[in-house]
Amino acid sequence: MLKVGMLTSGGDCQTLNAAMRGVAKTLYNLRPDTMIYGFLDGYKGLMYGDSKLMDPSDFSGILTVGGTILGSSRQPFKKMSEPMEDGSDKVTRMIENYHALNLDCLVILGGNGTHKTANLLSQKGLNIVSLPKTIDNDIYMTDMTFGFHSALGVAANAIDCVHTTAASHDRVFIVELMGHKVGWLTLYAGIAGGSDIILIPEIPYRLDSVLQAIVRRVKSGKRFSIIAMAEGAVPEEFADLSNKEYTKRLRAAGYPSASYMLGNQIEEAIGQEVRIVVPGHTQRGGSPVPYDRVIATRLGAYAGRMIINGQFGYMAALDNQKIVKIPLSKVAGKLKKVDPKSDIIRQTRDIGISLGDEEVTEEI
Ligand code: F6P
Repeated sequence: MLKVGMLTSGGDCQTLNAAMRGVAKTLYNLRPDTMIYGFLDGYKGLMYGDSKLMDPSDFSGILTVGGTILGSSRQPFKKMSEPMEDGSDKVTRMIENYHALNLDCLVILGGNGTHKTANLLSQKGLNIVSLPKTIDNDIYMTDMTFGFHSALGVAANAIDCVHTTAASHDRVFIVELMGHKVGWLTLYAGIAGGSDIILIPEIPYRLDSVLQAIVRRVKSGKRFSIIAMAEGAVPEEFADLSNKEYTKRLRAAGYPSASYMLGNQIEEAIGQEVRIVVPGHTQRGGSPVPYDRVIATRLGAYAGRMIINGQFGYMAALDNQKIVKIPLSKVAGKLKKVDPKSDIIRQTRDIGISLGDEEVTEEI
């Protein structure tokens, strides 16, 4: 008998079900004596012992369904040391509930915060296998996370959809995209959607540089511009602030987010009309795109094999088209950011897209 726990933690994405299905089908197929217990709402289910014995049929028909059949919740790593309502220790409770079911291992699907806790549980002696989920694509040591390409489809489509109306009305559109502290989603969507300016957290922007890019287009007869802006993009003057402090300043000035501040500044400086579009959580919804379905299935199947082979303490990762295993200790607490000196950034600049940090050589 092989007893496997499973949970999905943190923000959801379109591809969690596809990945769980990959694990489950592999296990049921190669080890028909497998029992899978699903913990509900992520680590919360593990803390409260809230689980259900899954049936193989639970994993059928979910390949194309977004969200997660197990539910998810955010249980920040930094709050793991805070006691539960009844005073008990969260980590101790999670360990107890794992042993109460006599589990052989626990499969954890999640992003960065999730991996910190996964590593902690592994260090405490639980048999952990993890899978890299997030639309942000910011997990260390995997080329790609599942969820990213599906979100990219939504984000690029949002840019496509504003293109025509931007042109009709000679407006500047700022499309604010998710991605938390990194710019992968915005960079890819910006390139895919033919944006004129791409602003990401890794490259703090200057207003004058953004204005120059817009004015240059106007001078060349293109009276509209599209800015793909990451939710975490930051102007140079605020680059040293913590995220919390930056958000506080924006809110104090009456801006819900950075794109509203930039929009206002553009209108004031050059008088061109600006509209803000925020696709928000639509980027995490809908059906997973085929590429995501394939990598989630492969990563899931690999995780199933790891379990059968007794290889624990690893995340399944994508490395140059191959699926490999990476020790959790190497992943936890690290962020995969866009390298401002990378090829993709150089190519973005080469085709004339502004990243908001170019030298200003023209009068605005
Ligand atoms: O990490 C995924 C993500 O969608 C980020 O891009 C975004 O900043 C955050 O989650 C939103 O979180 P929530 O769903 O808790 O509002």
